[in-house]
Amino acid sequence: MIEAERFLTSLAQALSTASLYEEDHPLRGKVLDQGFLRLQDLCDRSGEPVFTFMEDDVLFDGAPVRSLRSWMWAERLARVGVQRIEIVGSPEPDEYAEFVGILCQRLRGEEHESDDGARLRSFRYGAVGIASAAEPSVHHGAGEQGSRAVAGFLDEASALDWVLDEVRSGRELQMLEVDLVARALGAAMRSGVDFLIPVLRLEEFDAFTTVHSMNVAILSMAFGEFLGLDRKQIHQLGVAGILHDLGKTRIPHAVLEKESDFTDEEWTQVRSHPEIGARLILQSDERLEIPAVVAYEHHMTYDGGGYPSPARPRPCHPLSHLVQLADVYDTLAAPRPYRAALRRDQIVAVLTKGTGSAFDPHLAHGFKRMIAEWETKMQVFDERDAAEASLAAT
Ligand SMILES: [Fe+2]
Ligand SMILES: [Fe+2]
Repeated sequence: MIEAERFLTSLAQALSTASLYEEDHPLRGKVLDQGFLRLQDLCDRSGEPVFTFMEDDVLFDGAPVRSLRSWMWAERLARVGVQRIEIVGSPEPDEYAEFVGILCQRLRGEEHESDDGARLRSFRYGAVGIASAAEPSVHHGAGEQGSRAVAGFLDEASALDWVLDEVRSGRELQMLEVDLVARALGAAMRSGVDFLIPVLRLEEFDAFTTVHSMNVAILSMAFGEFLGLDRKQIHQLGVAGILHDLGKTRIPHAVLEKESDFTDEEWTQVRSHPEIGARLILQSDERLEIPAVVAYEHHMTYDGGGYPSPARPRPCHPLSHLVQLADVYDTLAAPRPYRAALRRDQIVAVLTKGTGSAFDPHLAHGFKRMIAEWETKMQVFDERDAAEASLAAT
């Protein structure tokens, strides 16, 4: 049983790595190599293993694997018609890589040829005739759940507001609070019958720092979830999203509200926020390397432009590209003093235009898919929703 768990865990890792990194990235090859070793261990031990993915259960040779109960990938694979995987004979490494590629294509919703699996001698996969396992989860409407969640988000916004005020006043970054806010956001998004992506418009809090940071955290975590990243990475994305604009606590509000016509001094201030933010994060805790890197890189573009401009150009961390998409989405979706909020189709057009130049094409494509596929989960909540939730709770 342990070999079965290890193999499925490595398969999930291969699928999420493929979501995050482009095809020729060395990490993809490394994860595939590790997965193949796990597969060999499994075949040595079990002969011809059979996995079945039900709604909440993973069956291995007909018996439930308890440690993989509610395993996210079971539902995902079942939803794209892979409810059963059988491994026969002695698979070759290339064959395993091809199998993973086919699963990725299916998960991405890309066209696949009807005989795409016929070439694979050792892997058989498909439906098992359990209709309910293949059906997409039913959207129950985010109304009640959303209102309940937004009441909680008000508390988190207050906590984050305090954290940012402390930094604004020159005091230390309270990382414990940031960590708790990220945890609470993640838990609230998953708390109901359906996954929820609330986009907050809370007028009693600063739209440029507190509310924007929460939204970027929420959208980044949602995108991480969509890509199938693990819980640790999703939490890291939450922390990185909350802190990506920390350096803006050093910029006067009047400058933040401007769209253009910056003086040279103001422009220098604006462009310095990634560097200042990264430094503030590392001063608080040296172990926060990823959030510091994301804060530093979130205005660097995929083609090497943007700011800051490091002396020695190098590719950005993929999580920076990921948070950048969430950042752009929320910036455009929020009303600003100088313009109305953009509609979703207008934002998608901006993302399409910048794909390959401003944005990592692989991730931009995924982000647009999330917006399309999870459209009903993305809902705007404001103070009125929170007030209704408080009334409902009393
Ligand atoms: Fe920024
Ligand atoms: Fe931002």
